[in-house]
Formats: sequence, structure tokens, C-alpha cells
Amino acid sequence: MPMQSAINLLLQRQSTPAKYHGEPAPGGDDLDLILRAAMSAPDHGAMQPWRLLLVRGTALVRLGDLFAESFKRRNPEASAELVERERSKPTRSPLLILLISRPQPNAKVPEWEQMMSLGAAAEHMQLMAQALGYGSIWLSGERCQDRWLLEQLGLGGDEWLYGYLAMGSPTEHCAGKTRKDPWDLTQDWVG
Ligand SMILES: Cc1cc2nc3c(=O)[nH]c(=O)nc-3n(C[C@H](O)[C@H](O)[C@H](O)COP(=O)(O)O)c2cc1C
Repeated sequence: MPMQSAINLLLQRQSTPAKYHGEPAPGGDDLDLILRAAMSAPDHGAMQPWRLLLVRGTALVRLGDLFAESFKRRNPEASAELVERERSKPTRSPLLILLISRPQPNAKVPEWEQMMSLGAAAEHMQLMAQALGYGSIWLSGERCQDRWLLEQLGLGGDEWLYGYLAMGSPTEHCAGKTRKDPWDLTQDWVG
């Protein structure tokens, strides 16, 4: 990639809301590139403290049913409308990448560093998806902390769901965002 394209990609990365995710989802070589981008994220001690689950096709409908069930368990009084809204969330995008943290005890690499590594991997995947012309957004919500749901997804007791990347082909052109000035958050430390 010419350097200017890389610079533009970094400056112009932005999320695409799931309502604008159409077919096709990244698959084949594109999906392979997106996953490979995750592997070059910083990882102290090369611990690989995370794994990914892909959800696509009819599995999206099954995940929606699990979202609805877990929502009902957490909110027994919720209206049918809210339950159906929760059920519909996974099927708005043709591909979800579930971000699973699996921190391991390590004297030199505390848990927070391992979590940050997954964050970096997720961001690499979003950047690669955008470079390939796809839209993505990182989503989470209360459901990600629902142990019952995590068990249904097959996560172990020492694994955590740090949200998921929803991806698809953009159905709308989203206007570029104006970003804040980084110098408002940045000072020289002079000792
Ligand atoms: C860990 C994490 C979880 C997020 N969860 C949600 C979410 O559940 N719902 C949501 O609308 N945005 C969520 N976001 C924010 C969006 O992914 C996105 O960054 C935000 O809409 C701003 O858009 P931008 O990425 O174009 O700046 C989350 C971001 C992160 C880093």
C-alpha cells in the first residue's frame, strides 16, 4: 500500500452503523486479511491472550435467539417489543466477529495489558476491513457480561466477551467525521 493511503486510512477510519451493513460480508481472502491484521497487534510476551468467534449465515439468527433469551432472563418484565429488538441485533450485519479475552496469569504481563492487546487486535481488524471497502462497528452492551450467555456461546469460565465487530458492505455513504484536536489532550512532560 502506498504510504499516503495508509496515512489516509488511519486519519479517516470511522465506524459504519450496523443499519448500513449489507451483503456481501467479508469472506475468503478478504476475511483472511482481516484476521491476519489482528495477528500483528502488539502482544507482550506473545501470549495470544484472546480468540475470535465468527458468526455468519443462519448462526446469526441463532445468536439473535440467544440475545433475546439472555435479555429476558436479565429483564423478566421487558416488553415483547424490546425482546424482539434485542433478537434483531445480530442479523443487522452479515458478519460478526466475537472478541474473546482469555487472560492468563503472568508475572510480567498483567491482565490489563492482555486486554489492551485484544483492543489493538480489534482495531487492526477494523482498519483492514475499511481498507478493503467494508464497514464495521465495535458493539458490546450488557449482554457481553451475562455469564449465562457466555456459557451458551461456549466460552470457558476464564474467558470474557469484550464485544463484537459487526461488518458488512456499506449500503450508504457515511459522511466523514470531524475529529477533535489531539493537542487538546496532549502536553509535553518536562520533568
Ligand atoms: C469496547 C467498545 C465497545 C463499544 N460498544 C458500543 C455499543 O455497544 N454501542 C455503540 O453504539 N457503540 C459502541 N462502541 C462505539 C462504536 O464502536 C464507535 O466507536 C462509536 O460509534 C464512534 O464512532 P467512530 O468509531 O466512527 O468514531 C464501542 C466501542 C468500543 C471501543
